[in-house]
Amino acid sequence: MEHWLNSVPVFLDHMAKVDGCATSHAAKRLAQYGPTAGIVAGLIAAQLRADERIECDPEQVVVTAGCQEALSLVIPALCPAPGDVMLARNPTYIGVTGVADFAGIEIVPVEPAGDEDWACTLARVTAKLRRAGKAPRGLYLTPEFDNPTGTVLTEAQRRSIIAGCGEHRIVLLEDNPYGMFRFEGVAPPPMAVLDDAGCVVYLATYSKTLCPAVRVGAAVVPKRLFGSADAAERFRVELCERKSFVTVNTSQVTQALVGGVLLREGGSLRAIVEGPRMHYRRNRDALLRALDRAFGTQGDTVQWNRPNGGFFLGLSLPFDFAQAQTAQCAREHGVIVMPMTFFSLDGTHRREIRLAFSNTDEREIEAGVERFARYVETQASLTH
Ligand SMILES: Cc1ncc(COP(=O)(O)O)c(C=O)c1O
Repeated sequence: MEHWLNSVPVFLDHMAKVDGCATSHAAKRLAQYGPTAGIVAGLIAAQLRADERIECDPEQVVVTAGCQEALSLVIPALCPAPGDVMLARNPTYIGVTGVADFAGIEIVPVEPAGDEDWACTLARVTAKLRRAGKAPRGLYLTPEFDNPTGTVLTEAQRRSIIAGCGEHRIVLLEDNPYGMFRFEGVAPPPMAVLDDAGCVVYLATYSKTLCPAVRVGAAVVPKRLFGSADAAERFRVELCERKSFVTVNTSQVTQALVGGVLLREGGSLRAIVEGPRMHYRRNRDALLRALDRAFGTQGDTVQWNRPNGGFFLGLSLPFDFAQAQTAQCAREHGVIVMPMTFFSLDGTHRREIRLAFSNTDEREIEAGVERFARYVETQASLTH
């Protein structure tokens, strides 16, 4: 964080140049209230183009106080009427369930049955909801290294989801905080790149690429929402109106910090994330090695996925693990893991946990897995 604070003057110089004024005048303006949609939309659009291949104009971007504010603006804007519901995979990111709960909006779990393709799933779920007098308005997804499961949607799945959303006029919220932390393999295109239906609202954040303290993110509205430029503009204006009564504008000081970093880095964050990306990769490898050592002989009773990036993986256990067990494991074995029930929309996934490998190191990971393995051994012997 400290070494980014000095990027604010870089942005001030840029602002002064663009506006044709003195830097001192730009600094005075920065200290005031600012435009609701933000002052770094152009730099964000350029970064999304450079790093994510997303072609968007600054006019499509609403700068927000992190992704969380974007969620709390977009979800209620999509679901104004009683019976309007959100769709999400189950389990799902807790920031989404929290917003929906506070706004009194139902979230309906959606998952393909067997090898059903996503377009069929969305048709099936939509028909069922319509029969019950409900209307699915939005679908929330983290296609790349999901929180909490660590999974990735394939390009075919992404295309099928877009087809289903286009057909049923469901707005797709593509949340992508972890996309730049891929350790190996080729990234499928973001859904905003594949969007030929005009249904994707892309959610960006600088919380993982820079740091959470900046509280800078963005909602990127499609150029034409389901084919209509007017509808897209009305939606963008509605987000700004809502934001004007929530945070007025995102802090101009931290926008300037992010803007300055983007200017200094020539528009791309690839170089900045390289060190953290390698650190997370080493942690992921250490976690997989430790899990293999601790549970490798336990066949199908303890299973986990091997993510190619991101911060998380999911692990399944041969017994229930919810809030009480989390406390017991922490108290008796000195290790905290996250039960999947925290992210579950309906109380299912009781035998799964989320393991995070980001904000830690290899030694802590090894010690943590050893302690957790002792807990699992004790529990498994009690349940037999
Ligand atoms: C799926 C997901 N979305 C968004 C965020 C980041 O939100 P924010 O930009 O508000 O810090 C996180 C952080 O944990 C996350 O896991």
